[in-house]
Amino acid sequence: MAEKKAQLSVDGMNETLDLPVYEGSTGADVIDVSSLAGKGIFTFDPGFMSTASCESKITYIDGGKGVLLYRGYPIEQLAEKSDFLECCYLLLNGELPDPKQKEDFNTRIRYHTMVHEQMHSFFNGFPRNAHPMAIMVGVVGALSAFYHENLEISNEEHRMDAALRLIAKMPTLAAMCYKYSVGQPFVYPDNSLDFSENFLHMMFSTPCEDTPISPVLADAMDKIFLLHADHEQNASTSTVRLAGSTGANPYACIASGIAALWGPAHGGANEAVLRMLNEIGDESQIDRYIKRAKDKDDPFRLMGFGHRVYKNFDPRAKVLREACQNVLAELGKDDDPLLKIAMKLEKIALEDEYFVERNLYPNVDFYSGIILKAIGIPTSLFTVIFATGRTPGWVAHWHEMISNPFKIGRPRQLYTGPTPRDYPKK
Ligand code: SDX
Repeated sequence: MAEKKAQLSVDGMNETLDLPVYEGSTGADVIDVSSLAGKGIFTFDPGFMSTASCESKITYIDGGKGVLLYRGYPIEQLAEKSDFLECCYLLLNGELPDPKQKEDFNTRIRYHTMVHEQMHSFFNGFPRNAHPMAIMVGVVGALSAFYHENLEISNEEHRMDAALRLIAKMPTLAAMCYKYSVGQPFVYPDNSLDFSENFLHMMFSTPCEDTPISPVLADAMDKIFLLHADHEQNASTSTVRLAGSTGANPYACIASGIAALWGPAHGGANEAVLRMLNEIGDESQIDRYIKRAKDKDDPFRLMGFGHRVYKNFDPRAKVLREACQNVLAELGKDDDPLLKIAMKLEKIALEDEYFVERNLYPNVDFYSGIILKAIGIPTSLFTVIFATGRTPGWVAHWHEMISNPFKIGRPRQLYTGPTPRDYPKK
């Protein structure tokens, strides 16, 4: 890494510290502060607003320009020309596959889509109306119980086996959550179908009949998975890395990522967008909700707007906005009342001073919920869809970290609690 320097002098310290500055291949430089602990001083950055937690070669985001690259390829080009499994290969291996590599990868994924038959028993322990994310956190962590014989994380082959198993099994488990909630039998994967068609098959077919799968809906589903596949060091990916840094097995690490994704400020936002649109209910109520969103004393936030990094349009939202209109037109739902409310909200947010000043643009979750609802996915399953799409990103970051020298993640703190005191004498 190119060595530039930063100098730090602190009142009370009798020396000026030289700190190395590293340049990335693109994006912000970083100041290496790891030597500060030895000087008895920590950096302080709640929410990691200015902290690079690691070095990575997987995904790059330029928030100011609304740029998202998977291994250097712009998301817009991948959404137009690639597919979800090809992006999984790209994120994991660093390069696009040649036709033979693509076929081999897809075949390996295809033959890992089934889950162990005993996994079915886990579902029976949940109430039928359990939130699907509660089930996913449980059953994905439980997968490790079935693969203990090859969970040596220092073994590259074991790591890749786990990565492919997780990518392959997430849609099966997601569909099982849905079937369990509606009291229908689980539908097994169909190896004659591609990844996203198979997911819709497992979701909507029954043992009584196969549901015809619309290519438009399968394409929209694949695009949604692809657009969610990775996003640098977001909260859930950082959780996966931190869990992985302890040497925990990959299934446990991904389960921790699923748990972190569940929050409405993160992956739970797509579900929250639909609940918000339903709560608004009618275009006549929009101004009242916009007012609430601006009111500091009101916890209401405009779900699907704003982003920690993007201070411009989320490029994924741009792609999904078009896909949303195509899907609704294909389904004859382009006069969907929720879409009308969404379009009105988007227009206001792009013009209203409060949102413009704070760069609160629509993010990926704003449109994905509307498409998923149009496809027939229940709102409670939206974040599970996000988790299914994000799995290649999670496993790629986990694999990248474990493949290189790493240390257990162990942040420090600014302690402002009681100083030492004696226990009161009896
Ligand atoms: C995802 O990190 C990732 O990459 C995440 C993700 C991924 O792919 O992994 O992109 C996926 O999580 C997308 C974000 C989905 N979340 C939502 O849509 C929930 C609504 N958005 C907000 O909760 C918020 O915008 C965050 C959490 C996304 C970002 O919050 P920040 O960066 O911590 O910003 P902030 O909360 O400090 O807000 C800055 C200002 C504040 O006002 P002021 O104090 O300056 O007056 O903007 C306001 C906030 O009150 N604000 C909003 C708002 N979001 C921020 N006001 C109204 N509605 C909102 N949605």
